[in-house]
Amino acid sequence: MRAGLKGALCALLASSALPAWAADVASPDGRTVVTLDVDGGGVPFYRVVRDGKTLIDDSDLGFLFTDAQPMRRNFEVESETRAAHDATWEQPWGERRFVRDHHNELAVTFREGRQNSNRALTVRMRVFDDGIGFRYEFPDSEVMPVANIAEELTEFAIAPEAAEDGTAWWIPGGDFNRYEYLYNETPIDAVSIAHTPITMRLADGTHLAFHEAALVDYSGMWLRRMEGSRFRASLAPSSRGAKVVREGAFTTPWRTIRISDGPAGLVESDIDLNLNEPNKLGDVSWVEPGKYIGIWWGMISNRWTWGTSDRHGATTERAKEYIDFAAKHGFRGVLIEGWNVGWDGDWFNNGREFSFTQSYPDFDLREVTDYARSKGVRLIGHHETSGNIANYEAQLEDALDLYKELGVDWIKTGYVADAGGIVSCNADIADPCDPETEIFEWHDGQRQVQHHLKVVQEAAKRGIAINPHEPVKDTGLRRTYPNWVAREGARGQEYNAWNAYGSGVEHDPTLVYTRMLSGPMDYTPGVLGLVGDNDYPFSSTLAKQLGLYLAIYSPIQMAADFIESLEAHPRELEFIKAVPADWSESHLIDGAVGDYAIFARKGRDSDDWYVGGVNDATERTLTLDFDFLDEGKSYMAKVWKDGPEATYLTEKRHDIAYDTVTVKKVDSYTVRLAPGGGVAIQLKPR
Ligand code: NOJ
Ligand code: CA
Repeated sequence: MRAGLKGALCALLASSALPAWAADVASPDGRTVVTLDVDGGGVPFYRVVRDGKTLIDDSDLGFLFTDAQPMRRNFEVESETRAAHDATWEQPWGERRFVRDHHNELAVTFREGRQNSNRALTVRMRVFDDGIGFRYEFPDSEVMPVANIAEELTEFAIAPEAAEDGTAWWIPGGDFNRYEYLYNETPIDAVSIAHTPITMRLADGTHLAFHEAALVDYSGMWLRRMEGSRFRASLAPSSRGAKVVREGAFTTPWRTIRISDGPAGLVESDIDLNLNEPNKLGDVSWVEPGKYIGIWWGMISNRWTWGTSDRHGATTERAKEYIDFAAKHGFRGVLIEGWNVGWDGDWFNNGREFSFTQSYPDFDLREVTDYARSKGVRLIGHHETSGNIANYEAQLEDALDLYKELGVDWIKTGYVADAGGIVSCNADIADPCDPETEIFEWHDGQRQVQHHLKVVQEAAKRGIAINPHEPVKDTGLRRTYPNWVAREGARGQEYNAWNAYGSGVEHDPTLVYTRMLSGPMDYTPGVLGLVGDNDYPFSSTLAKQLGLYLAIYSPIQMAADFIESLEAHPRELEFIKAVPADWSESHLIDGAVGDYAIFARKGRDSDDWYVGGVNDATERTLTLDFDFLDEGKSYMAKVWKDGPEATYLTEKRHDIAYDTVTVKKVDSYTVRLAPGGGVAIQLKPR
């Protein structure tokens, strides 16, 4: 299978020295078979065959270092071990309560032979029915006690026959706006350098998504297209030169490929969670999913300010109004941004000015938290760092202690800085945090990966959950640290405030199949007024704002609008109040990547089901089957749907219709989705 001059030449040179060897490992259903092998030149590689056809062609494995010979060729197979695993574990919160981890494993240790330095590298491969994951394991080694990794050579060579006429949905890696891009929809051979997850649909309908799991103390992986449909890992850079520096024995994150016959298989796959370690925090009953409102949309839509002004959003008085509203309508939390000193002037560039303990004079933090407590509501804390982690880490423990003392148990953090603009201390010099010597890192480089975990771990010690914006991408670490409840990491609702038609109508039904594969997103749905700054119109109907609660999962869901606007829409508010943020089951019941997505989800604490989702620009009529319902039961279905004239293109975006019907498992419901529309249905057993 390995073709071309290189293979032939190496085979000739190495020929008799290397034993013929290849090991296969199949998925439990037998459809996917992965081969691990070395080629004639001793280059380790893997290959994936599905249903007898090559899906991922021979793809090299290896590393470059800044201070050592590459790990690339002259490897021999030293040993192999095999394992099989089938167990079900329970999520404290999530899209589903029980997760099955069913896979077969092959671990191969490769060792450099002959003239090389005799280093060893283990590749652990796990094959599931819905995809594969593999990682590298570096032993503790005297030959290379520190690995200064310049680049990973891991390839993902989608077989040309499989890739032909395929489509990819992707955002650029390494560009200034971090992950906050609209998705490109291109042929696979038109991708340049992409963040993961990157999603592909092949001509035969197979869906693929490339990502990584358990990104810990390592640099985030981008995928760079080398030629045709052959991709290679490209690690986010570091100020240290080497993109990753690790001492002693360590493992890399898992490189994952979800493989499925259709979109539902991608969306419902749990392989990235399964590849993360189990909960390390013990009893996490204090991590409570819930819904929240906030002093937020006012700043985003430019009516109020974060910093000092006569339009300052975070005043004690307004905080109390929001707390009253939350208490009246049963919202768990109230997010308050702009409460702390540091926002005045150019906050984007002055991260070092932020205090995380000192409030503005017109905001009394204790008075507000006392008031919230008396009303049974939690203040949601906010730490915007402007990407200055040197300043944040210096204050981190005091800042978390303060919030803990005041009963604040969710914190939204923020890292607004251009990609590559994370300000850090220089550990290599005598006065590491001297502002004159600050160093700059990437939002997904090793240093920032370490930072996020440090914040999450320190917060966990104090019973606080974390929701970072401008984060590093999610890689399933919520399994290990269930207080890492959500994050942004994509273009959220805020972009709808900043331009007419904001992110457009393709974005949400694309997010479902791309960004959302990585984990919960703090998208902030529920802007019922459908306007942003300058009265910019939204690319959304009113019903779609409700459908977003089903389409974009988060255990902390915002109702993002002004409270006056929420109050002005009592029937929509009724839905937002009722819809859970925690589920026992979730299924994509209809949809296509980039076009539309309809989910059915069952509440964690009741027998109620919810159905809903979002649409792109194409008007469509769907017949939704209720075959997920319990046999023999009848349900009252309350429907919020696009009105007959609804379209995001005109003021008719506010046109919404309601319906109530009784349904059973055998029934279906026909609904029209408007351009830019959506639907939301509540099903309660009668
Ligand atoms: C960008 C975040 O996405 C937004 O939610 C936040 O309000 C601002 N940064 C300020 O922290
Ligand atoms: Ca943002």
